Amino acid sequence: MCGIVGAIAQRNVVPILIEGLKRLEYRGYDSAGLAIVEDGQLYRKREVGKVRGLEALIAQDAIQGNIGIAHTRWATHGKPSTANAHPHVCRDKVAVVHNGIIENHEQLRNNQKAVGYEFTSETDTEVIVNEIYGALENTDNLLGAVKESIKKLEGAYALGVVAKDHPNTLIACRKGSPLVIGVGIGEYFIASDVAALLPVTQRFMFLEDGDVAEITIDKVVIYDKDDNLVDRSIKESQLKADSVEKGLYRHYMLKEIYDQPWAISEALEGRFIDNRLQESAFGHNAGEVFDQIESIQILACGTSYHAGLVARYWFEKLAKVPCNIEVASEYRYRKPIVPPGTLVVTISQSGETADTLAALQEAKKLGAKYSLAICNVPESSLVRESDLVMMTRAGPEIGVASTKAFTTQLATLLLLVIAIGRRFGLTKELENKISSELFSLPGKIEAVLQLDDKIKQLSEQFAEKQHALFLGRGTHYPIAMEGALKLKEISYIHAEAYPAGELKHGPLALIDAEMPVITVAPNNSLLEKLKSNIQEVSARGGQLIVFMDETLAAENDVNVQIIKMPPVENEISPIIYTIPLQLLSYHVAVLKGTDVDQPRNLAKSVTVE
Ligand code: G6P
Repeated sequence: MCGIVGAIAQRNVVPILIEGLKRLEYRGYDSAGLAIVEDGQLYRKREVGKVRGLEALIAQDAIQGNIGIAHTRWATHGKPSTANAHPHVCRDKVAVVHNGIIENHEQLRNNQKAVGYEFTSETDTEVIVNEIYGALENTDNLLGAVKESIKKLEGAYALGVVAKDHPNTLIACRKGSPLVIGVGIGEYFIASDVAALLPVTQRFMFLEDGDVAEITIDKVVIYDKDDNLVDRSIKESQLKADSVEKGLYRHYMLKEIYDQPWAISEALEGRFIDNRLQESAFGHNAGEVFDQIESIQILACGTSYHAGLVARYWFEKLAKVPCNIEVASEYRYRKPIVPPGTLVVTISQSGETADTLAALQEAKKLGAKYSLAICNVPESSLVRESDLVMMTRAGPEIGVASTKAFTTQLATLLLLVIAIGRRFGLTKELENKISSELFSLPGKIEAVLQLDDKIKQLSEQFAEKQHALFLGRGTHYPIAMEGALKLKEISYIHAEAYPAGELKHGPLALIDAEMPVITVAPNNSLLEKLKSNIQEVSARGGQLIVFMDETLAAENDVNVQIIKMPPVENEISPIIYTIPLQLLSYHVAVLKGTDVDQPRNLAKSVTVE
């Protein structure tokens, strides 16, 4: 999704902006650009494609300056093109970079056209820069002009603004889209997320919704949504510049798959005292909130939604508490019912997914009194807007296709299952069993990672395929869904997941020798049923790949290939069976030569609706 970087310094900011854009590449984008104010001129460069293309363009003209804004664009309004790339400029005087969507852009566009503005792009952003230009005709104060202009905007935005006649001022503001201010020594920066600025600072101010900041070389002045002067404290980020680098791994995704043993240890670290889960890990008053809970509603998108689907099985089976889950983008418009005593659990890697945030707000409007976020980004909007929080601590996840964020979500959801389950009769024995299984996860994941070479060989059968089916049952049905999503996202092979029992109600018609069927078959109470489903596929000539417990007596057949998995307990099994499916999609994508970490058309953090 779009990324913003800006800087004001006594040194040339162009390299800072370019490095920042490169560090935002992981969010997904299709074009990039920057604008610099220097020597009474506003210079702009834009390019479709990668940031290195923009870098080459800038090198030709040797642009430099002490103040500038830059952007990676992920097309929403208007195709990826140079004309639609940001920054947008009005009459060579004002430049704006924008993340978000302006919902009333058509109306503003018509008003502006009526008074003579000409449009050079199809974007919703151009109306913003025109508004600011217009406001500057009545004031010589850039801050005042931005404040006036944003009053007219409906929708979501994070903005960076510079103007030719205001070479010492950078304006930043946000409503519904994230924006941080990086604090350097005698210099300031802005960015959509901290990752962009780690090489230049680890000190950040997190703007709140509705904030407008006026940034000059020696100070930052911030006004809140009611135009009150406010202080936003400076927080030190724990991230180091190299924590978002891929080291010796060929792709971030592979590194992040291999990070999982460590990430899960981090997720569990400090959450138990004397082997007992501490409820304060969810927030200081978590125990009191959990005492009021009668049911759970989970809201999430994408991979995080799949984590919620697994958790629903756990909440009902292990904790014996009623649990619903819904894709956030549907929930927000459905007028659902939120019974008293509902704990709304949002799950999000980024904590900035617009639909998940909006669904949480909707749930609150509908009467939800208690909310809990499972999230990977401590400073995110979702964390700020939730009563209770469980950080997944997976570390920065750069690959667009989520891997370690998912498995740490699952591990932390099991912690929540324990905490809530205590109130609904989860026995001490089962609690202890789940806890010790959780601590065994890093070692077990290491063991599954040993299958990497085998899975790589297997992936060769996929490179030419157009479609694939994934099957699972129970908690492993969402794992099959996640496997299918991974394959789609990064290899562009059409993949669908079905609960294996549903096969005969339609998808069986698709089975032939060209259709690989990947089955997740752990050793649990549904295994015998699953074996019958496997037979149904095999009898029709389908090519089966079955991930199965090594203790089970099963051998390869003409059209059945078995990948033997280490034995694993039921409760944590979905986490373990995720790993081979991640590796499989990764290797298929590498063979197909796709852009593994930044698959086409996708964004890491979807901050627009
Ligand atoms: C995007 C990403 C997915 C992610 C989803 C939800 O679509 O590409 O990987 O699962 O957003 O993101 P969240 O940050 O809320 O988990």
